[in-house]
Amino acid sequence: MATPQPIDTKLTQAAVFLVVSLNGDMSANTQVRDLLGDLSSLVRGVGFRVPDGRLSCITGIGSDAWDRLFGLPRPKELHPFQEINGVHHAPSTAGDLLFHIRATRMDLCFELATAIVTRLEGVAGVVDEVHGFKYFDERDLLGFVDGTENPTGQAALASTLIGEEDPAFAGGSYVIVQKYLHDLKKWDAIHTEVQEHIIGRKKVSDIELPDAAKPSYAHNVLTNIEENGQQLQIVRDNMPFGEVGKGEFGTYFIGYACSPARTEQMLRNMFIGKPPGNYDRLLDVSTAVTGTLFFIPTGDFLDNAPNVRAENSPAAAPAPVSPHKAGSGSLGIGSLKKDS
Ligand code: HEM
Repeated sequence: MATPQPIDTKLTQAAVFLVVSLNGDMSANTQVRDLLGDLSSLVRGVGFRVPDGRLSCITGIGSDAWDRLFGLPRPKELHPFQEINGVHHAPSTAGDLLFHIRATRMDLCFELATAIVTRLEGVAGVVDEVHGFKYFDERDLLGFVDGTENPTGQAALASTLIGEEDPAFAGGSYVIVQKYLHDLKKWDAIHTEVQEHIIGRKKVSDIELPDAAKPSYAHNVLTNIEENGQQLQIVRDNMPFGEVGKGEFGTYFIGYACSPARTEQMLRNMFIGKPPGNYDRLLDVSTAVTGTLFFIPTGDFLDNAPNVRAENSPAAAPAPVSPHKAGSGSLGIGSLKKDS
């Protein structure tokens, strides 16, 4: 199997989440592919200076961007994020590329993000940038420890990496990202015991509530999904972020899986409810303001990013205008550069 990108990296102190949209002009493609091919070298260049900094970058490609950059074949389950209109709303927002940059120090993340954006100058714009930090003992800003039940080791690989079901893309993965903003005043007004029922775990000790004590709407009940008696897991690396002056307190959700259907099922359970109406009360105090789905190719694919083949690519035609791009798609910085 080709070498996967470092999805199962140990949780870090800092992260930058960069979501980027490409300009509509096809001349951007060569510059973008060149950057993708150079990413591993950029990570080495920035990261080598701080050996214990554990700098890593995972790159995701959105559905429209895949067509214009690589054409066919395309990953079987790659599609734009589907918005959900349930008790609460999960919007689908713009994004052609995702860079999930992690390190033990923010300076490393910041330096790499700067290098990436510099290389995209003139052909792409950042549509969302979040600087995430670790908050005390792995807690989110709601005060609960987040990440405890993540699979690790072999289980993490099995739940995130594509296998024989899509042989051309074995070793790849899918990721869904969503930016959530919390109403902390509303949350803090909720009694701790009720908060624990909403999450399904004790707040201070992080111990899971016994099944009999968990309401059917507990977060860890609705996100626990099974197929043929087997739990279907995903790997999360959520990060808190915020700006106190603006009253902004958030969680950046990021979930990797071998099939986006897993995360989509969890989201339907949360937003619509299981059964419908039995929704996740976390959403009464947390609003999803973004939602995007990306394919994560293997490291080898990125290193040798293939040129789109004109005869079998939708990208041979003018760039498809996704609903997100209409009107405001071009967020380019500076002038367009020519395909070389
Ligand atoms: C506001 C955003 C969110 C917050 C603050 C949050 C917080 C938490 C917390 C505190 C836990 C318990 C500890 C743990 O096992 O990690 C948890 C578990 C979990 N969350 Fe979330 N979460 C959020 C969004 C999501 C979303 C959008 C999904 C999936 C689509 C998700 C999937 C899961 C899963 C699979 C578990 C483990 C459940 C188990 O097996 O026990 N979470 N989350």
